[in-house]
Amino acid sequence: MPRKLFVDQDACICCNLCADTVPDVFRMNAEGVAEVFDSRGAGEDLIQEAIDACPVACIHWES
Ligand code: F3S
Repeated sequence: MPRKLFVDQDACICCNLCADTVPDVFRMNAEGVAEVFDSRGAGEDLIQEAIDACPVACIHWES
């Protein structure tokens, strides 16, 4: 069962990196902040790359 993801939108600095890296999982919302729209849109390895690359480390797996 894939884990769920969330973006801490208060911390996101709107750099677009996650949406560029994994566009099937992340997108920029109407406010220009990242959101998860499909936690299962990509493999966990690719998602983890986006998590690790986020400059403010604001993407998290739900526990
Ligand atoms: Fe925001 Fe991090 Fe993505 S700063 S746009 S959640 S890479």
